[in-house]
Amino acid sequence: MSIIILGIESSCDDTSASILKDGEILSNVTANQDAHKLYGGVVPEVASRAHQQNIVPVVDVAIQKAGIHKEDISAIAFTRGPGLMGSLLVGVSFAKAMALSLKIPMIEVNHMQAHVLAHFAENPKPSFPFLCLTVSGGHTQIVKVNDYLDMEVIGTTIDDAAGEAFDKTGKLLGLEYPAGPIIDKKAKLGQAIFKFAEPNIPELNFSFSGLKTSILYFIKKEIKNNPQFIDENINDICASVQHSIIEFLMKKLIQAAQETGISEIAIAGGVSANSGLRNRLEEEGQNRNWNTYIPKFEYCTDNAAMIAVTGYYKFFKKEFVDQSITPMARWKI
Ligand code: KG4
Ligand code: ZN
Repeated sequence: MSIIILGIESSCDDTSASILKDGEILSNVTANQDAHKLYGGVVPEVASRAHQQNIVPVVDVAIQKAGIHKEDISAIAFTRGPGLMGSLLVGVSFAKAMALSLKIPMIEVNHMQAHVLAHFAENPKPSFPFLCLTVSGGHTQIVKVNDYLDMEVIGTTIDDAAGEAFDKTGKLLGLEYPAGPIIDKKAKLGQAIFKFAEPNIPELNFSFSGLKTSILYFIKKEIKNNPQFIDENINDICASVQHSIIEFLMKKLIQAAQETGISEIAIAGGVSANSGLRNRLEEEGQNRNWNTYIPKFEYCTDNAAMIAVTGYYKFFKKEFVDQSITPMARWKI
């Protein structure tokens, strides 16, 4: 008999549902929330309301697109955390209700673990052990992945996440939220000619707040001399900001590969959609004889396919949870 997993993701501002059949993704449907653009960041209350509106149609479309019936589903995997409490609640409550009505088991999934396992939604798949640089709006981690469900965080940020560094700098530059993809686009048209203070953080850890401050002071200084500085130099500023963030990420990833002796290297999370980071990883991989793994775009940013994949591996271990489950805003892998 086939194993069919419905994955549900609602940890931040994307409502997503995915159907996975015997390890293969049949559908992955995501509703993005544009409302946050008005506020320059994710507003938790707005996010949870939008999830409530989106979750039923998104799950419906995922089931339709997969060409299955809801009665065929073997288990429901859902994001339990980490994330915004109100957003998580919508997904968790929906999963509970649907599992109860279909009389099928539920599987809790850690969002960060799922970003890593997004690599198993497609081919080629990394072999164990591998290193994964998980870079998103909320997290920046270097993870040593020993097995599907056996992961160690060997480096993390002590303040802002890499995605936040993109988004907060974008805000300084007057760009819309989320600024990461916009900076990526503009960086392609510019040159990394401006230099910012390089963070010096011990071990495999990261820090991005100093970089943000350095950019802020640089811009303030330049604007004093030329009020049009941002407009006239936006592409070069974006290229420089992106270059600084990527070089810092790559420096630590290279260090992690050297320290662990691992040459299977992956990136994951929303910032792994960045074209500069993708190119740099490939280039470094060729120089260093790494096997590199870069997810396709729809599996980089928040998506339910990665939740369904993680659920699939937990299904075989019978790691089910019951109706007393509650979301966890903070949850380490
Ligand atoms: O993984 P994700 O979708 O959500 C979280 O779990 O946080 O990541 C969202 C983050 C945002 O900070 C966004 O600006 C960033 O990923 N991002 C990018 C790009 N696409 C998304 N950052 C840089 N370049 C991109 N192309
Ligand atoms: Zn995420």
